[in-house]
Amino acid sequence: AAAGLGAGSGWAGSRLRPAGGWRRFASVNKAKEEAAAGPTEEGSQPTPPVLAPTLELPRNLVVRGLDDVEDGDLPAMSGGFSGRPRDGILEADALRSCAPYIHRHRGSSMLVHLPGHVIDDTEAFSSVMDDLALVRLLGVRLVIVLGCRKLIDDGVRARGHEPVFANGIRITDEETMRVVKQAAGAARFEVESMLSKGFQAIPGGSGCNVVGGSGFFTAQPVGVRDGVDYGFTGEVRRVEAARIHERLDAGDLVVLTGVGHSASGTTFNVRSTDLAASVAIAMQATKLVFIMGAGDVLVDADTNKQVQNLRLKDAKMLFGSEDCRDACSAEDEPATARQKRWQWVGCSSVEAVERGVRRAHLVSPNRGALIAELYTRDGYGTMISGDVYDGLRHARPQDVESILRIVKPLSKSGVLKVRNRELVEETIDQYHVCTRDEAVVACGQLTQYGAYAEIGAMAVVPEYRGHGRGEAVLNYLERTACSWGTKYIFVLSTVTMEWFIERGFVEVPVSKLPEERQAIYDNERKSKVYMKKLLDERQVDADELFWDIGTF
Ligand SMILES: CC(C)(COP(=O)(O)OP(=O)(O)OC[C@H]1O[C@@H](n2cnc3c(N)ncnc32)[C@H](O)[C@@H]1OP(=O)(O)O)[C@@H](O)C(=O)NCCC(=O)NCCS
Repeated sequence: AAAGLGAGSGWAGSRLRPAGGWRRFASVNKAKEEAAAGPTEEGSQPTPPVLAPTLELPRNLVVRGLDDVEDGDLPAMSGGFSGRPRDGILEADALRSCAPYIHRHRGSSMLVHLPGHVIDDTEAFSSVMDDLALVRLLGVRLVIVLGCRKLIDDGVRARGHEPVFANGIRITDEETMRVVKQAAGAARFEVESMLSKGFQAIPGGSGCNVVGGSGFFTAQPVGVRDGVDYGFTGEVRRVEAARIHERLDAGDLVVLTGVGHSASGTTFNVRSTDLAASVAIAMQATKLVFIMGAGDVLVDADTNKQVQNLRLKDAKMLFGSEDCRDACSAEDEPATARQKRWQWVGCSSVEAVERGVRRAHLVSPNRGALIAELYTRDGYGTMISGDVYDGLRHARPQDVESILRIVKPLSKSGVLKVRNRELVEETIDQYHVCTRDEAVVACGQLTQYGAYAEIGAMAVVPEYRGHGRGEAVLNYLERTACSWGTKYIFVLSTVTMEWFIERGFVEVPVSKLPEERQAIYDNERKSKVYMKKLLDERQVDADELFWDIGTF
């Protein structure tokens, strides 16, 4: 399923490509060892392992697990939600803040992928199962896909063999296939019994019927590729989405494993991350959730903070590039299990979101993490969201004409201040445009004054108004301002105040403007000033959850 992802979108050739590229991602621990060893032979300090940069909002991302992080050097994690009383007082506000999410998610279909190493870890497994039982009781239609990689590897080794992979894909011979079936059966049994325990642990919870089996999808062989015969390794041929929905409508919970049958009755071993993405796409699930390793986080190395959200475009560059895949399947520099997991999970998330799943979430198996991720604003993991900003981009010099065409009539009627061609040409770097079929249909300008950013020239072509484009431009500008590290965003307006007030801006006196901006305030125009404290990026994303992007 990963094939083709990132083709043309990778950052191979990008000027942002860091020295070492993906090879450095494939050697997080190696880089740590190098760092501990001091300067390299050439006398230069080794660069930290870089996962990938982003295009418009350059960030320096790394994957970290707890064992990679020095004491006291833990990335700042988002708060999460314990739901427990603190100092004897129930966190009523926390509960209240969850209410919109509970309402939003009730009745929606979600797909959760649970990897074998979590099933194998008693504490993590029981925590995730308790959380899943609660999610189900809160009315979510749940499909769980089980990964068995660890169980299969252990089973193969127990028979005195080493698991065999080529290009990162398992080669499944007849004996391995027998192990796969046993592992899948055992994993399903464990999940069912833990789930019923989870349901019983919630007083008043009624539990639900768990259904599974291989009738929900068909498989086909991967076959022989580049001279390698993958044996019984398969891929998804078709997902019986209607059958799955039927079971969910009946109130059941569906549990799937990667064991699938072909039309001719042969059994194949399908990679579970691919299966999860295929099922989520076929069902058009609202969310695809991957449970990651305990303590595994994606970190912005510049800020040492957990990356809470990734736009699809950024995720595609991270996980979809050829370099990334090469690094994870390279024979000479074998990636660790963690790196491979991030790679496959990332590719599957990108594919799912590209093909209609609204959001993918990468969450640790800590107790409550899944609940915090789904039902709180801050979340707990990393969210990959579809591009509601499709068509929004930085303006280019050739956009000057279109921008002038939009703003000139508004300047004439006094809605916007007057901007001549020279001024727009000089400041074109500050403009952002929204396009449809290459035509510019909206624009906005963003100017930074230290901790403040000013929105200007914000306008939508009249025939395109009322479809959320104004809101999308505003959020895009807010997100860009967030990425600059600014704390406040403001706009000067003479007639459109209500629109901004409804979007969280409040009127402030001119004296609240940064001094630099006060100095050029137009006393004749007497615009009013509206200001808003910026949310962090994740909160901007959370707000978008409530947009009706279908009409955009
Ligand atoms: C303000 C503007 C950018 C909004 O763009 P848009 O794409 O129509 O915005 P959205 O679709 O996101 O929002 C539409 C909603 O805003 C409302 N709205 C539009 N203009 C408004 C105004 N001046 N005051 C209050 N509400 C307004 C619409 O009635 C609609 O409300 P509804 O959803 O309840 O029907 C657009 O109307 C515009 O270009 N106006 C002229 C330029 C301007 O005033 N720019 C601001 C300079 S400070």
